[in-house]
Amino acid sequence: MSDTAKLQVPGKEVEYPILTGSVGPDVIDIRKLYAQTGTFTYDPGFTSTASCESGLTYIDGDEGVLLHRGYPIGQLAEQSSFMEVAYLMLNGELPGQDELAKFNTTITRHTMLHEQLATFYRGFRRDAHPMAVMCGVAGALSAFYHDSTDITDPKQRMIASHRLIAKMPTIAAMAYKYSVGQPFLYPDNRLSYTGNFLRMTFGVPAEEYVVNPVVEKALDRIFILHADHEQNASTSTVRLAGSSGANPFACIAAGIACLWGPAHGGANEAALNMLHEIGRPERIPEFIARAKDKNDPFRLMGFGHRVYKNYDPRATVMQKTVREVFKELNVSDPVFDVALQLEEMALKDDYFVEKKLFPNVDFYSGVILSAIGFPTTMFTALFALARTVGWVAQWNEMISDPEQKIGRPRQLYTGPTQRDYVPVDKR
Ligand code: SDX
Repeated sequence: MSDTAKLQVPGKEVEYPILTGSVGPDVIDIRKLYAQTGTFTYDPGFTSTASCESGLTYIDGDEGVLLHRGYPIGQLAEQSSFMEVAYLMLNGELPGQDELAKFNTTITRHTMLHEQLATFYRGFRRDAHPMAVMCGVAGALSAFYHDSTDITDPKQRMIASHRLIAKMPTIAAMAYKYSVGQPFLYPDNRLSYTGNFLRMTFGVPAEEYVVNPVVEKALDRIFILHADHEQNASTSTVRLAGSSGANPFACIAAGIACLWGPAHGGANEAALNMLHEIGRPERIPEFIARAKDKNDPFRLMGFGHRVYKNYDPRATVMQKTVREVFKELNVSDPVFDVALQLEEMALKDDYFVEKKLFPNVDFYSGVILSAIGFPTTMFTALFALARTVGWVAQWNEMISDPEQKIGRPRQLYTGPTQRDYVPVDKR
């Protein structure tokens, strides 16, 4: 392939370099396009736009490949831990045993929240959606940790990153406790990252909470599956917020807000609600028909993906984990059977095959989280908890990129051209 791309615009021909990464599609470097031609590119939804250079996560949507710093998601899900993946994303390499132990200790020692933040929760209604609480409290962290908001200081950036990763489980667990009217539990430093979260969520002061190792491993794997995913909407939000120099806590709050949408991280909550609405296999054809009906805004939640046009490798691991958790907890849930049959029927339907719509990470996650005991409203909060690792890693990469500048897209303007003001008594 030529290493330049030629573009013919009225009155001139311009040529731009083609840049090649370590793997994946090449990019045409059009940074000089507007200066040289007076025209913008037009790409709503950024379907054909690379917004940055990154070495964190690689996705091949046609082959169903997902790599974190080169390691396949299937191997990380089976053999690694969420804390090890967090270290890998932040530092670029898998840690040695001593490095991992030190990292675990560092994160563990940041799990407590400033005590004043506990009163912050009191301002919410008890029935506030946990994502509303997560947005608010994550943003409020910048009012407490002023010693880690100088983004030009790599040390402060890393302390803020550790604080965010460490405190997200505490914030999420407290959001759940507040919603059910139970007292907050402080972190217990003797437990693992995920075990600590389970205890803070489901434990009560009145009795000892024993972490179920199978549930702990399954949830840790679910966190790995949600850790990072290239330049998705919420990660792009974090990068755009960070490009203005906003502090990391504010940037992560922006990411949480974006993730909440049902087209993105909110799909796990919407998918389980949809499966409950379907209720039984006999009703599946009715919902598939609705999803195909152009006049019906209904979509199969947990299906389809901007990048994956083959199976989402995370959905494969998720479905396997459902079977493991159900076997261990000796539970079954008719909703899982509906999900399996819905997937089977949809993948035999031309509409979904032609549009390359497969289950994504959100399709099965709710089934497991529900079986573990989380209410549907907590599902996206768990997604945010896990994705904080990716967000802070992407944010750090952006801040330390010498080419980074404030993100400021342009537009195709189709509004009124200039006209003169008319006083109200003449309108
Ligand atoms: C996540 O980006 C990421 O990496 C995100 C994520 C991550 O880890 O960060 O992977 C997490 O957000 C997963 C996606 C969760 N969202 C859902 O499950 C919601 C349901 N799915 C969609 O709304 C949709 O598939 C998207 C948003 C995921 C992707 O949308 P695109 O790429 O913009 O595709 P599109 O909306 O243009 O749809 C293409 C066609 C359309 O039909 P036509 O206009 O071409 O006739 O496919 C149809 C759509 O109507 N379609 C669906 C569908 N998804 C797309 N039809 C029915 N059901 C669906 N779920």
